[in-house]
Amino acid sequence: MSQKLNAPRGTADVLPGQAALRLAVEDAARELLEGAGYGRIETPTFEATELFARGVGAGTDIVEKEMYSFDDGGGRSLTLRPEGTAPVCRAYVEHGMHKLAAPVKLYYLESFFRAERPQAGRYRQFWQVGAEALGSDDPAVDAELIVLLHRLLTGLGAGGLRLRLSSLGTASARSEYREELIAYLHANESRLSETVRGRIERNPLRAFDSDDPETRRVMAAAPRLLDRLPSEDVAHFALVRELLDVCGVAYEIDTTLVRGLDYYTRTVFEFTSDDLGGGGQATVGAGGRYDGLVELLGGPPTPGVGWATGVERILLAAHTEPQAPSPPDLYVAHDGARVAAFKAACDARAAGLRVELEQAGRSLKGQLKHAERLNARFVAVVGDRDASVRDRLGGSEQTVALGELLAHVERARRP
Ligand code: HAM
Repeated sequence: MSQKLNAPRGTADVLPGQAALRLAVEDAARELLEGAGYGRIETPTFEATELFARGVGAGTDIVEKEMYSFDDGGGRSLTLRPEGTAPVCRAYVEHGMHKLAAPVKLYYLESFFRAERPQAGRYRQFWQVGAEALGSDDPAVDAELIVLLHRLLTGLGAGGLRLRLSSLGTASARSEYREELIAYLHANESRLSETVRGRIERNPLRAFDSDDPETRRVMAAAPRLLDRLPSEDVAHFALVRELLDVCGVAYEIDTTLVRGLDYYTRTVFEFTSDDLGGGGQATVGAGGRYDGLVELLGGPPTPGVGWATGVERILLAAHTEPQAPSPPDLYVAHDGARVAAFKAACDARAAGLRVELEQAGRSLKGQLKHAERLNARFVAVVGDRDASVRDRLGGSEQTVALGELLAHVERARRP
């Protein structure tokens, strides 16, 4: 026997019981988002590496450490998409969607790839449902998206949800604040952890994420970006909060919320679930505004806002268990009349019934046992001319001509 091969670390096969649960997430997302005017978009599994380096940011963990990049054989570097916002904005520019009525509302349901350390809720290939609205800077779009994500997660039964909300302001407000924060960190350098000290210039905002107790004490007194926002950003954020309030979506303002992607401006948010344990994998869904991204990718100045939520994390937070398949309406058994049985099963399927057919060489007795195991409602033992049909729910048993089989089952199924 040859040596067996397993799926790569951090990836997983989705078996039928699990697939049924995913389908429920997909159906709920599709219904909710299409009902709110979002149209489905699909982008390629791989893109030019440059798209993510430019869009997500060369200094982010995703671009620095987590991308699956490869040479396409012609000297071009391609990357398995680690996220969906940059590809959607690339497609928006490529297809001239700025000519469409704004906002252009798009959603996706695709798999993504990140070379992360695999653990519960953190995979190297995972699925996201994502939604993006391009072309409007109205705070109502931010609020609409947050309300939709809240509805999706609660509707699917994700437990222990919390919504953290903040505003990062526009890029110019942030760069002034950055200088102030860097000066503050330098002034307190001796009290900071080595990691935080090492990235003061590169990524000062990440200091708010530190677990080190002394660093946390320093950061508790640090200047806050939210207190430094210009009045337009303050007004935008106030309206987002007001709209969430009227819809009854509870949130906590978290001035330390730093997202791991560079494109964010103004509103940022994260839904965490207490049921997912601590750490980064407690985040079920997250997003925010990215008013500069389309322009950065060569398009006209275009505001945008969106989110993505991990399908596997929703299923973990909703404590779902693999589901048994739905039972067949009809099980077709036979004691040698295999052609007649095959035709009867084909006809019944064509009429819309869920049908199973003996295909593993079982004896008639074995077939009847199998029909019971499958919990089929009707069992038909098909001969060359007629069939004996048992209604396992109603208890009746009757022999009918083959041509009558379907009509008989349909009649008996009617309530
Ligand atoms: P993100 O926070 O990197 O944002 O990912 C969004 C969600 O994807 C996470 O909250 C999590 O549920 C899921 N996720 C991320 N990485 C993994 C992983 N390794 N394994 C399992 N699930 C994972 C984005 O991707 C942005 N594009 C969101 C966005 C859309 N912002 C604006 N528009």
